[in-house]
Amino acid sequence: MTRTARATAKGDLTMSIAADIRAKFEMPEGIYLLNHSVGCLPRAARRALEDQWFGPWAEKGSDGWGEWIAAVDHFREMVARLIGAQPDDICPQTNLSGGLSKILCALPVREDRHKIVLCEEDFPTVGFVAAAAAHFGLETEFIPRGDAATDPDVWAKHLDGAHVAFITHTFSNRSARLPVAEITKLARERDVYSVVDAVQASGVIPYAVDDLGADFLLGTSVKFLCGGSGAGFLWATKDAAEKCSPVDTGWFSHENPFEFDIRNYRVAPGARRFWGGTPSIAPYVVAATGIETLLQSGVEAIHAHNQSLIDRLHEGLPDGALASERDRERRGNAVLIHVADAGEALEKMKSLSIRMDTREGCLRLSPHLYNTMEEMDLVLEALGPFLK
Ligand SMILES: Cc1ncc(COP(=O)(O)O)c(C=O)c1O
Repeated sequence: MTRTARATAKGDLTMSIAADIRAKFEMPEGIYLLNHSVGCLPRAARRALEDQWFGPWAEKGSDGWGEWIAAVDHFREMVARLIGAQPDDICPQTNLSGGLSKILCALPVREDRHKIVLCEEDFPTVGFVAAAAAHFGLETEFIPRGDAATDPDVWAKHLDGAHVAFITHTFSNRSARLPVAEITKLARERDVYSVVDAVQASGVIPYAVDDLGADFLLGTSVKFLCGGSGAGFLWATKDAAEKCSPVDTGWFSHENPFEFDIRNYRVAPGARRFWGGTPSIAPYVVAATGIETLLQSGVEAIHAHNQSLIDRLHEGLPDGALASERDRERRGNAVLIHVADAGEALEKMKSLSIRMDTREGCLRLSPHLYNTMEEMDLVLEALGPFLK
């Protein structure tokens, strides 16, 4: 039995990380490195669901609404703390795709502007939402994969005459960060609305919305925020929100949801107009717990921890094996590794309970606050035979 197999089997991996951080999470057996896909849930989530959702439902039925709305407000407050925003500028969304659809439908129609600029390396859902927007006359223009996506001069050319710029903060496929603030500045100068996808950055790459300079930002709790699925968020500047007339609307988008006058739709001020009908509650209870747990450590500290784990991996890889961005200032929270046969290597990793995935012929993995240096060493040892 190798050292890796012995260590993962024993679960003896907590040597260099405060045991209390690891104890806060429910984690699959082995070495969990799929945080770019799904983060582990905090143990506190079960209790929160019981206290804030099941409990009020069982005891009060419909009278529990006060507590449920308070739970969603708490989620908005947690997101606001995370991204340096005001809670009023944040609207819960099921996921990024839904939030983007709502924004595209809600923006003012401009007869001379039809172009949505996005990147071929954005998460595919973005291309699908943009393609569907052809229904109301919008066209997609892709920035090609590779260096073009991180080059503001390339963006500048594409942004001329555009309606919307969609900017992914961090690509998970090659772990590269885009120069978001530079791109949003170019967009603003050209009167182009900007939407940032913060899915692969939130919780692991510190940012404040004011510094990014976008009109809108979208995120989800399912990945590094350790908050489960179904709890996304849409942030909008007050100015951008006021220009929008959401089409996918409902009574929770009304200025006063409890007015109940069918002939008097008055859209809510600010971002809340993007809400819609009766909201789900449970996903936001779980997600708020996830974000709260991360904030106990702080995003700066999580970033420093994760990036030193990534440094360790980079240092242990032979020349030419690293397929993702190396530069600490330009990289995200994932590592992609060239291997001779990604399928075979992944099977081996699975057999050792080392959890990662493959992308574009490479192995992909991403550490988080609950991972350790020892785990990185075990991963390097296990990968050894597969490295080119
Ligand atoms: C960068 C990025 N954006 C968006 C998504 C998913 O979008 P949605 O929340 O609509 O499922 C992912 C999922 O992996 C992603 O990595």
